[in-house]
Order: sequence, then structure tokens, then C-alpha cells
Amino acid sequence: MEMSPIQITGIAGSGAMGSGIAQVAATAGQQVLIFDTNGEALQRAEKNLVATLNKLTEKGKITTEQQQAILGRIQFVADLNQFAKCDLVIEAIVEKLEIKQNLFKQLEAVVTEKCVLATNTSSLSIASIAGACKHPERVLGIHFFNPAPLMPLVEIIPGIATAPALRAFCKSTIEGWGKTTVQVKDTPGFIVNRVARPFYSESLRIYDEGIASKATIDWALKEKGGFRMGPFELMDMIGHDVNYVVTETVWTQLYFDPRFKPSLTQKRLLEAGFLGRKSGKGFYNYGTDAAEELPEKNETLATYIVDRVLCMLMNEAVDAVYLKVASPEDIDLAMTKGVNYPKGLLKWGDEKGWKQIMHSMTELHNWYEEERYRCSPLLKTMAISGKTFF
Ligand SMILES: NC(=O)c1ccc[n+]([C@@H]2O[C@H](COP(=O)([O-])OP(=O)(O)OC[C@H]3O[C@@H](n4cnc5c(N)ncnc54)[C@H](O)[C@@H]3O)[C@@H](O)[C@H]2O)c1
Repeated sequence: MEMSPIQITGIAGSGAMGSGIAQVAATAGQQVLIFDTNGEALQRAEKNLVATLNKLTEKGKITTEQQQAILGRIQFVADLNQFAKCDLVIEAIVEKLEIKQNLFKQLEAVVTEKCVLATNTSSLSIASIAGACKHPERVLGIHFFNPAPLMPLVEIIPGIATAPALRAFCKSTIEGWGKTTVQVKDTPGFIVNRVARPFYSESLRIYDEGIASKATIDWALKEKGGFRMGPFELMDMIGHDVNYVVTETVWTQLYFDPRFKPSLTQKRLLEAGFLGRKSGKGFYNYGTDAAEELPEKNETLATYIVDRVLCMLMNEAVDAVYLKVASPEDIDLAMTKGVNYPKGLLKWGDEKGWKQIMHSMTELHNWYEEERYRCSPLLKTMAISGKTFF
């Protein structure tokens, strides 16, 4: 397929992601058209964008001229036919397969044959969206993180039918917008939402077993593990409606692999409407009268918690290499840039020694006799051969 440099980008969906991506593209000099079927959402997006750019100007991050130029490059449109002139369309509408498929069909009737069509989906396969298109070779995933203007990582996901030349083309386009890209196979959770699962789920398991309190697990992973936030505070911040659903979706799509099994404790929070910070209550209470929960600062317990969560995370990262989800370089880049891990999990494992990680996994497997704790075949190979990734 013939491709020319992207000058006009269409964004479908003016919610949190669509408006963030529009800001990124317009800041990078793109002409941007942003479309939404909901007129109120479109108006809200415009108001929010002006407010965000005002703040950036007040803080001195951009000049008044730059602010005006950025706003001048964004057009809010209520008619999809205006996308006829776009070179690239990024879809960021509601996460429902049928609705996305319909939009892609509509888009194909509007845009030129050179226009690249991308989806920002977090949990649907690129194949399932492209499968509804007449020209699936021009469809791929371009997955931004929330908030798009602040998060540096973008996962580029070619589908089974995507034209090979699109990978490099989209990589250079999105890097030209100031982002760091990684390339990922069209698999559930892509890199970040797959490899990060044990950070939440193994912490929940330790908590469910009564080994340590939430506050102790959060403290251990921050203080001894070097993570910016503990898993329970982070789940509360993300919201259980999002975090639990991602876990359940990845687990379901990986044919109920026990390594990804969700926790009933988190499901109950979701069912009760305890969504985290946004609802004032999640694992912690965010009311004004909330008492602070204190951790048990026990070194031996902290070491146990960090070792257990880390060996599960590293095993997952190694398994993603084993199953060709992405390259070792891209997996480490994704976890440091996409979720701010203190180190890439593979580099970290190289330093700790894969033999020790296999030993920790094997101990868990022997004790619990659960598939959840099985070693990735590549972890065994790394441990036995003494090789490192970097
Ligand atoms: N929120 C996140 O953290 C996040 C992160 C990465 C990716 N994503 C993905 O990005 C997409 C959008 O997520 P969001 O959080 O911005 O959602 P959102 O609910 O904030 O916004 C979705 C917008 O799409 C509009 N819409 C619905 N159907 C439409 C249609 N047929 N045509 C045009 N507009 C339509 C809605 O009116 C709404 O304004 C989803 O696929 C989601 O999985 C979300």
C-alpha cells in the first residue's frame, strides 16, 4: 500500500483518550479533526482542551502563540464525512467490538484508499476489528496510555493482515509526535496490560491468604521494591472498574490460564461500587475521616513479598519473550515507560540471576501445586544456560 507523510489526522471519539491523542498530534504540528457522535462530549472535549492548554501556558510550558497555534490546528466535527481528507484516523470510541466494527466500515466508505486506520483499543484484538474491513491491510493498533499527553509509551500492534510497511511507517509517525514506541504481537493485553498483571494479582493473593495487610504489601513494594506506588493504592487510583475488567479480560482471552486468574476480593469491591479514589472508597477509604492504615515494617516479610511479586512479574516478562509477544528490548521499554517500573523486568532479572528466579517460582509451584506458579520454558532455559537477555 502507498503511504505519504501524515498531515491530517482524524480522531474518532472525543473522550479521555481521543482528546488526549488530539492534543499530542496537534502539538506535534498535525492538522487534527476530532469527531464524536455525542455533541455534548464534543463540546466538553473542546472546553477541557482549552483549559488544559491554558494551564500549560500559565505554567510557562508553552507560549500563548503556541497555545493558539495548537488550538487552531484542531477542528471539532460532528460529521464523519469531513474525515475524507485524513491521512490517518485513530479510533478511540467506546470499547465495544460491534460499535468499533461499524465505525471502521463507515470510515472505509469515507476516507481515501491511502488513509491508515488505527484503533486505540485496550482489550479487543486488532484482527477482530480489521476483519470487518474491506482493506484490513491498512488497519493496525496504535495504543496510547492515559493521559496520552503525559505518558510517553505507545504500543504499535500490527494485525494478522496489516501491510508490513505500515509498522515502520507508523513507528516513525508516532515517534515524530514525541512518543516512544514498541511493537507488539496482536495478543491479549499487548505488553503492558499482560506483563503487569502479577503486580496486582500476586499482591492480592498474598493479601487474600492473610500473609500481609494491604498497607504492608504497598509499603514493601515501594520501600524495598522501588515501585512508585503500591499495588493497592495503584488499583484504587486506576479504579476497579478498569483494573479488574482488564485482569478478567486478559484471563478470559488467554483461555483461563490460571496465571492470570482474577481475585474475588477485587471483584467484590467492583460489585459493591467501591471503585477506588473516584468513588471515595476502594481498598482504602478516602473520606476526610479516614484513618491511615499503618504497615508492619518487618524486613523478612517485606523481602518475601517483593521476591514473590517480582519473580511472578519476571516470569511473565520472560514468557512474553518466549511467546514472541515482543522483543526483550521492547518489553523492558514498555514497563519502564508505560507503567514507570524502576527497571525493565528482564534487565532486573539478568541482575538478580534467572537461576534464583526459577528457584523462587519452583518453590511456589511445589508448595501450592498450582499451574499459576509454573515456570516459563524460557525461564528454565535462561536459568540452566546461565545466559542473560542483555
Ligand atoms: N481510558 C483509558 O485509560 C484507556 C487507555 C488506553 C486505551 N483506551 C481505549 O481507548 C478507547 C476510548 O476510551 P476512553 O477512556 O477515551 O473512553 P470515553 O468513554 O472517555 O470516550 C469514548 C467516546 O467515544 C464516543 N463514541 C461512542 N461511540 C461512538 C461512535 N460510534 N462514533 C464516534 N464517537 C463515539 C463517546 O461519545 C465518548 O465521547 C477505548 O477503546 C479504550 O479501551 C482507554
